[in-house]
Amino acid sequence: MTQRVGFGIDVGGSGIKGGRVDLDTGLLIGDRIKILTPKPATPDAVAKTIAEIVKIAQWDGHVGITLPSVVQNQTALLAANIDGSWVNTDCQKLFSAHLPNNPAHVLNDADAAGLAEVQFGNPENKTGSVMLLTFGTGIGSALIHDGKLYPNSELGHLVIDGTEAEHYASSKAKEDKDLSYKKWAKRVSKVLSVYEALFWPSKFIVGGGISRKHEKWVPLLTCKTPVEPATLHNNAGIAGAALAAEQGLYP
Ligand code: BGC
Repeated sequence: MTQRVGFGIDVGGSGIKGGRVDLDTGLLIGDRIKILTPKPATPDAVAKTIAEIVKIAQWDGHVGITLPSVVQNQTALLAANIDGSWVNTDCQKLFSAHLPNNPAHVLNDADAAGLAEVQFGNPENKTGSVMLLTFGTGIGSALIHDGKLYPNSELGHLVIDGTEAEHYASSKAKEDKDLSYKKWAKRVSKVLSVYEALFWPSKFIVGGGISRKHEKWVPLLTCKTPVEPATLHNNAGIAGAALAAEQGLYP
């Protein structure tokens, strides 16, 4: 059987990462290429960096690209943790100028991670109402029911007791306030309790870099819904982007 291979790029606050993805397993093939996110991370500067990654990889097919933004009809509509100039950027126009030979498919970073976890992670998650949350600079969310994504849920911006959830419980908030895992887990529990009271998911999947140390905080969570660490960790965005590009989910 020939291997199905795609290419995904994950745009983060500190790094832009990309690589070839085995579309049957979600695993990266070969090296992950990482270039520091340009500052300021304007659409042109980011697109230029992405074009460099594609060139280094010598990839000549479709590319999936994640953004930490709402993406509707291939237009970025929000810029909470990226440069403000992304708002209303037509991503097709932007990427076809920088990557004329690589049709681009752009989607929200947490949505990509959610699609990848459901497709390639624990097979149980292909059914039921799964809420994936990524903890990083912000809190990203993906709502997936029986494998189908409800895109752009943006639950990190839900205001809880006067504060946006991501300002209170992202892993950046933990770092900025120098919180112990115990104190931070209390904050995460509060946020998850609000989410479960509103959405009643069958399971939370927690991702983002800090999910690698899940044994330090997941057992401390007090919400009622079962919580499972993501299995693809930091490569979930890349894998989900490649998958979305292959399936033409966001043409
Ligand atoms: C953004 C989301 C993104 C999340 C994680 C939030 O601030 O609004 O679009 O998914 O951060 O990067």
